[in-house]
Amino acid sequence: MATLNKIAVLRGDGIGPEVVAQSLKVIDAINQKYGHDITIEEGLIGAIAIDKTGNPLPQETIDICKQADAIILGAIGDPKYDNDPTATVRPEQGLLAIRKELGLWCNIRPIALHDQLVDLSPIKAEYLKGVDYIIYRELTGGIYFGKKEKRDDYSSDLCEYHAYEIERIAKLAFEAARKRRRKLTLIDKANVLESSRLWRKVVMEMGKSYPDVTLDYLFIDNATMQVILNPRQFDVVLCSNMFGDIISDESSVLAGSLGLLPSGSIGDTSKLYEPVHGSYPQAAGLDIANPIASILSTAMMYRDFNMDREADCIEQAVKTCIAKGAMTQDLNPDTECPCSHFGDIMQSIILDGADYVKPRAQNETYSNII
Ligand code: IPM
Ligand code: MG
Repeated sequence: MATLNKIAVLRGDGIGPEVVAQSLKVIDAINQKYGHDITIEEGLIGAIAIDKTGNPLPQETIDICKQADAIILGAIGDPKYDNDPTATVRPEQGLLAIRKELGLWCNIRPIALHDQLVDLSPIKAEYLKGVDYIIYRELTGGIYFGKKEKRDDYSSDLCEYHAYEIERIAKLAFEAARKRRRKLTLIDKANVLESSRLWRKVVMEMGKSYPDVTLDYLFIDNATMQVILNPRQFDVVLCSNMFGDIISDESSVLAGSLGLLPSGSIGDTSKLYEPVHGSYPQAAGLDIANPIASILSTAMMYRDFNMDREADCIEQAVKTCIAKGAMTQDLNPDTECPCSHFGDIMQSIILDGADYVKPRAQNETYSNII
């Protein structure tokens, strides 16, 4: 197991820089508390990289990432490209390219709910109690990366999978299921797609080596319904790239805010941690973004380096903030805790103890509390 000495930080676009700044405060506090000396090196990616270099993923950024033990990414995307179907260079190309360049074939997205926040979800609380699952999304294959054709009046995106691409992520998913509630659900469209039938064949065959894991299969259309109707049925969910993208945004609705969901992407040589949410350009610069997804992604990073004490400390501090009402406005409009203050509060909790945040009294502003 590698040690965590160097982190590459790619803040990206929109709210990316703001949420990553809070994660950096958390890393700084963890460094102080546990005596680590972790170096940070920054790189450009996304629209900001296009503006500065003409390339959404400059070679310099790839080099910085390859030299680092882990990568923290903010978000990518800028609306000026979304509404221009003729744009040939797009910020998202930077994200897809970094996944491919670094071979980050497995994207892990845990869906865990906080009891105090169940009322934020449009789904009734009775359906949400006990929901706890984890999505394993294939990240470097499928329709995202298949051959593309574009003519004036015709376009195509090919969905291709090799058995080895399915096997390596399925192995991780089976092993994760073994450490959890021993259930694996494969989401596909095997009633229509050849590539899905390959997923089913490979996973079914592998299932024989995991007799202790219950294997279930759902078609994507049914699965999107099941996420709403009976999300408690899921433990580990395994999907191709595109279906994982769909299921993870939908799953965020259960948690109450897309701003809560972290993710980790791993491959043979690199590890990258980023929130599930996008660049949320409408909120950029307003100091209202929820940094929890980025901060919990940072906790996932520590856990992957066997630094459970550090990961536990961060997750506990996030729970303390939520319990005491220190939340950004997407979670609690009454608290008005700005994004930047959330990182300060996290630092205080990590360094000064769990009871540092006191509940907000009437007429008290957030600056009086921290
Ligand atoms: C995600 C995002 C990306 C994806 C976009 C921004 C290219 O939606 O990470 O889920 O589709 O993978
Ligand atoms: Mg997505």
